[in-house]
Amino acid sequence: MSAAESLVRLAPSRYTLPRPFLKWVGGKGQLLGTLLERVAASGNFRAYHEPFVGGGALFFELYRQGALRDGAVLSDKNPHLLEVWESVRSDVDGLVERLATHRAHHHEDYYYQVRAVVPTERVDRAARIIYLNKTCFNGLYRENRRGMFNVPFGRYTDPPILDEDNLRACSKALQNVELRCQGFEEAAAAVKSQDFVYFDPPYVPVSATSVFTEYAKGGFGEGDQRRLADTFRDLTRRGASVMLSNSWAPLVLECYGEFSPHPVAASRNLNSRTDRRGAVKEALVDNFSVVRPEQLAG
Ligand SMILES: C[S@@+](CC[C@H](N)C(=O)[O-])C[C@H]1O[C@@H](n2cnc3c(N)ncnc32)[C@H](O)[C@@H]1O
Repeated sequence: MSAAESLVRLAPSRYTLPRPFLKWVGGKGQLLGTLLERVAASGNFRAYHEPFVGGGALFFELYRQGALRDGAVLSDKNPHLLEVWESVRSDVDGLVERLATHRAHHHEDYYYQVRAVVPTERVDRAARIIYLNKTCFNGLYRENRRGMFNVPFGRYTDPPILDEDNLRACSKALQNVELRCQGFEEAAAAVKSQDFVYFDPPYVPVSATSVFTEYAKGGFGEGDQRRLADTFRDLTRRGASVMLSNSWAPLVLECYGEFSPHPVAASRNLNSRTDRRGAVKEALVDNFSVVRPEQLAG
């Protein structure tokens, strides 16, 4: 049985490790079942590429499913994030030790002390990010435009500061994985025919209040979205299987119209306005779906 066929049989694995070691804005936990179905529909692939890796929810899911038999390349433009991935891969003992110290000292004052100082050693910086991610308000690591973490303390009774079993499982999963701090265009340049690429960029904003300029959320503006669509088409011509998630926004439907975006329901809980929480429509685009009869005009 091929790796892709085995995926069709399996639902997302809820209880096994490894799982994302960070909660990241736009994390794909909710959509995993749908994403897996799409990956299975693509057939066999060689290397797996995730150029906007964030917390890497789909990467870990595919690893748990045994679908990554020909290697993986994970990249992201955020150097602070990449350092955490690198430390998990190459210094998990050091990370466990430092997180045990954070756990022992955890307290509101301690949190603000840790937040105020960026350490000089990579493994200390990585442990700091994981600690802040697990204990800050709303449980996400978020930076302002100057790259500073500025989220206040979160009041949790027992935050999971150190999950040693999971960190070790993540480290094992990363041993043969290439990690690169780079933009998506550079990441795409290394993709070969029959590789699989999953793009999960910062989403096109949809709410009326969202300002969409070159300084849009994540610094990813309309020009970036259009360049990403060009990259998607280029990879298609080069024989790679490509899948992308984004919001169900006019710009996305325009950029990927020829690939017939699928609407998918995802739940969002990051909106501060409770009336805007709940199911939202997102777009899933790929270049390998069989066109279904109901989609054909006439
Ligand atoms: C929506 S998040 C990805 C979430 C991820 N799929 C998960 O499950 O956690 C988008 C990511 O894109 C990264 N990013 C922003 N601009 C980028 C660019 N030009 N090239 C590569 N990565 C970029 C951000 O640092 C962020 O981690």
